Formats: sequence, structure tokens, C-alpha cells
Amino acid sequence: MIIQTNSQQFAARVQNVPASFIREILKVATDPNIVSFAGGLPSPALFPAEALGESAKRVFSKMGGQALQYSSTEGYLPLREYIAERYRRRFKLNISAEQILITNGSQQAVDLIGKIFIDPGDNVMLERPSYLGALQCFSMFQPVFKEVNLEHDGIDTAELEDLLNETSVKLFYCIPNFQNPTGVQYSLEKRKMAALILRRHRTIVIEDDPYGEITFDKHHMPPLYSFYPEKTIMLGSFSKIIAPGLRLGWMVANREIIKKATVMKQASDLQSGNLSQYILYDFLQNNSLDRHVENLITAYKEKRTTMMGCLQNYFPESVKFTRSRGGMFTWLTLPEGNTARELLQAALKEKIIFVPGDSFYASDPDYRTLRLNYSNVDEPVMRAAMYKLSRLII
Ligand SMILES: Cc1ncc(COP(=O)(O)O)c(C=O)c1O
Repeated sequence: MIIQTNSQQFAARVQNVPASFIREILKVATDPNIVSFAGGLPSPALFPAEALGESAKRVFSKMGGQALQYSSTEGYLPLREYIAERYRRRFKLNISAEQILITNGSQQAVDLIGKIFIDPGDNVMLERPSYLGALQCFSMFQPVFKEVNLEHDGIDTAELEDLLNETSVKLFYCIPNFQNPTGVQYSLEKRKMAALILRRHRTIVIEDDPYGEITFDKHHMPPLYSFYPEKTIMLGSFSKIIAPGLRLGWMVANREIIKKATVMKQASDLQSGNLSQYILYDFLQNNSLDRHVENLITAYKEKRTTMMGCLQNYFPESVKFTRSRGGMFTWLTLPEGNTARELLQAALKEKIIFVPGDSFYASDPDYRTLRLNYSNVDEPVMRAAMYKLSRLII
């Protein structure tokens, strides 16, 4: 028997959540003949599968069945200490393990933050465009979205200031390193200026940073957190630097926020998988994460350079794109007369997919924009597909 659910029976919060167009496109991507620039997928060839396998064996031989028992909501303490130490070493940030909550990917951290801060009608500020997963997640809490334009070197800080002067904003969500979807990185000046303005208005900041380690020019920028630690919540993830299937990320914040987030996490899933945490921690003890990240950087930098070359050489000059200096994406603006959705229809016939940019706006989308991912396509295939794509632009 099929039980029909009357749409009015769904909660109001569900009615407001946009479906992920990306997930729809990714269904097509399972066809092996499709060249996908659509996902944000790391390259599986770079997952340290063998070393993680060895770690799994060691964990079971050391811990036996205990590796499969329930554990703490906060996460495995040695792993939290490892993360804190890495911040100390990379940015001289004084973060303790008590300020870190292990989450089921950084996506869960976004959700927990929504739960602890957003009431219906609260103003939530985002970069324009922003990460679709955050838009989707925050929508659940029925906020009013305010957008600040993203420029080539970070948000428009004058606009940020105006907006905060005009209205009270509960929190600001940003991705200062190699943003998803645009690939933009904030300059040092913009980091300082944004932190200054946000601090003046006591706005809570969510600094989502899954891509910061994948910096092609070795120039690692200090996080916004370092200029405004009191009210910045920093998110990190092992998804892009080790493997997304582990589903391990983290949240750094002051102890009060971590306490609230821990209670919310308890209510939603009790804890992140501790088996993944033990295996990952063993991996980190027996392998150099720095060396592994270096290998990722070498591989992704090559792919980035190939994609930039294709954009430069094959595409009309009227197509604008970001020259990403890290991460996994570039962002295109097509010339007048094109829309990304129409281009996608034509590209699908050539078995090429990408994500039209309109999904990444909270309002008033720019239909001429699109996101290209370069981390998961082999270079000869990329060249051929990019050439075909360039021919489809009017
Ligand atoms: C900006 C951003 N935040 C969060 C996530 C979620 O990552 P995960 O939950 O795998 O850590 C992604 C994934 O692509 C992302 O691009």
C-alpha cells in the first residue's frame, strides 16, 4: 500500500529547503562515459587507502572489540589534541582540545551551528555566491538571508559595513580560502578589515575552511579566527585532505559554544563514528600528513594549471573566470546571450556536466555563472572536454 503524505503535513521548515541541484546532476555522473566537472569530489586515486587499511588492522589488533564500542560525543581526545597542535604549528593559534568538537564532516558542524543560533526570522549573512550545502542547511531554520558580494580578493567590506549598520545580523558564514563555488581567496587586508567590522558589530562568524591546506603557492593566510577568536567558529574537515568517506570534520570555538554544540550533537547522533576516528588517528601517527598534503597539492595544482590553460586557450575572451590559487574550483561568467542552464543542456549531449551557478545564490541568481571542478578529471580527458565545452558558447 502506498501511503500518500499531504504536503501540508510536512513541517514549514522542510517546505523552504531548496533541493540540491548538484545531487541531481551527480546522479547522471554515475555514467562512466560522462566527464564530470560537477561535483566537489577529491580524486580517489589520491586517497591513502592502503595506509588506512593498515591502520584499521592495527586498531583492531590493539583495541579488539573496544574499537566498536560507543564513545564520547566530543570525539577522540588524541585526535582533538592532534588538530589543536596542527593549528598551533601552522598559525601559532592557542587552541586547546576542549575547544574542539569532532563532527560528522564539517557539514554537521554547519547544522549544529544553525540549531544553536538561528531562530526563524533571524538575519543570516552569506557571501554572494555561497556554498549550496550551507544555504540548504541554514534554510531549515527559516532565517532571512542577507548577501554580501564576493570580489576577486574576498567580500566587499564596504558593503559588509553598510549591511551591518543597517540591520542586526545573527551570524556571517564565509569560506575565506578557495571558496566553494568561486575559488576566491580573501587577501590579508580583507581578512583584517572584515574581522574589524564584524568585531565592532559583535557578529558571530562561521569560518568554513575545508580547502585551506590545498594552497598551490605555499602562502598560507592566517584564518579570520586569528583576528577575532572570541566570536569566530572555525570549521575544518578531513574530507578533502584524507577522504570524505571517513565523515570526519571538526568545529573550533570558545568553550561555551562547544558545550552547546555538544548537547545538540548528542541529541542528533550521539557521537561521530569512533572507529573512523581511531583509524584516522593511527594513520596520522604513522604517516606524515604534511607529505600527503604535498602530494595532493602537486596533483591538484597540475589539474588547475591544465584547466586554466584550457580556459585561456580555447574559450572566448568574453568568458570571465577565477584563477584559483588553491582548492578545487573555478567560476565562470558567460557572455551576454548565454545561460549556464542552456549550456548544460548542450554539454549533456556531449556527455559533459558542470553545475550552473544559480543554485549558489540565496536570491536574484546570476544565470550566466557556472562552477567547474578540476580535482577529479584526468588531464587528457579534461582537455578534450574543455575544448568541446568552449565550442558550445554562443
Ligand atoms: C565549503 C564546504 N563546507 C563544507 C563541506 C562539507 O564537507 P564535509 O562534510 O565532507 O566535511 C563542503 C563540501 O564540499 C564544502 O565545500
